[in-house]
Amino acid sequence: MRTAHARVSVRSTDPAAATQEFADDVRYYLSQTPRQLPSRYFYDALGSALFDAICQLPWYRVTRAELALLAKHAPAILGKSTAGDRLVELGPGNGEKLATLLAAGLPAKTGVELHLVDVSGAALATAARGLSGFESLRIVAHEATYESGLRQVSKEARVGGRTLVLFLGSNIGNFDPDAAISFLRGMRATLRAGDRLLLGADLRKPEETLLLAYDDPLGVTAAFNLNLLLRLNRELDASIDLNGFRHEALWNKKESRVEMHLVSTKAQRILIPRASVDLTLREGDRIWTESSYKYEPMEVTRLLARCGFSARSQWVDTDARFALTIAEVE
Ligand code: AVI
Repeated sequence: MRTAHARVSVRSTDPAAATQEFADDVRYYLSQTPRQLPSRYFYDALGSALFDAICQLPWYRVTRAELALLAKHAPAILGKSTAGDRLVELGPGNGEKLATLLAAGLPAKTGVELHLVDVSGAALATAARGLSGFESLRIVAHEATYESGLRQVSKEARVGGRTLVLFLGSNIGNFDPDAAISFLRGMRATLRAGDRLLLGADLRKPEETLLLAYDDPLGVTAAFNLNLLLRLNRELDASIDLNGFRHEALWNKKESRVEMHLVSTKAQRILIPRASVDLTLREGDRIWTESSYKYEPMEVTRLLARCGFSARSQWVDTDARFALTIAEVE
């Protein structure tokens, strides 16, 4: 089934516009209380490589649990794919999950169209390369945010067939509850009745387990977090001393989320010329860089229902505590 026949085309964003958006976001979010930097900016080439390394850590089980569920339930997930069907993956990372799903469940020569949406051009290139061996696939890579990628996909001519959106890796966990609802409703608006969504969500587990996953003994997650500062230095002409910050992960039980912060280890002034930022920090001041919300299986089903999707099947890894839910647009 794996001969080199996939055709790959790329829709990329203008790099100057992307840098301007990054600068505008940095200025805006650092001026908020509490100070923040959006987690979507973790994923430059180095950040994507560090994230791949996180996924291999024994303490971060999300990816392995999801891959096993995808391999096991691929035929049920993909069903009888036919020409004209579309698979859209939001945030494919290195493409491993999609490759696992297709290898285990895609009937040969289906002519399925694959859309990959990711803000990281580097991740898209790796994903498209990894998937190019699948026969008869047309791959379109969209270097874009999820929202604008979905809009681009919905504007592409559609010959019929059904769309299956893959939103995996617990990426939904990086949205605040209100943002998750408006994002899923926005997604729903780009789909038709009968289209489906496959959603991967990490589940609540003991605090020690969560903290090891987000503050690992090898320091890979710390490097992933600190790389955001390196990115400010490289892309926005800042000159931040990375030794002036430490990584912190904490479990916010009330909000059911793991938070990651960058904590200033000294009094310091932060200048980010291309974002017009001039910030004075005291020792212990923080910049909040990520929230990872953890769900219960029923909460996932309820969230989907509130956004116009009705859950058809849910598969749970009860050991790693991870859920994969397939839902249909009503
Ligand atoms: C991509 N996202 C779902 C990961 C998560 O678990 O929130 C990113 C991550 N952050 C630290 N480790 C992994």
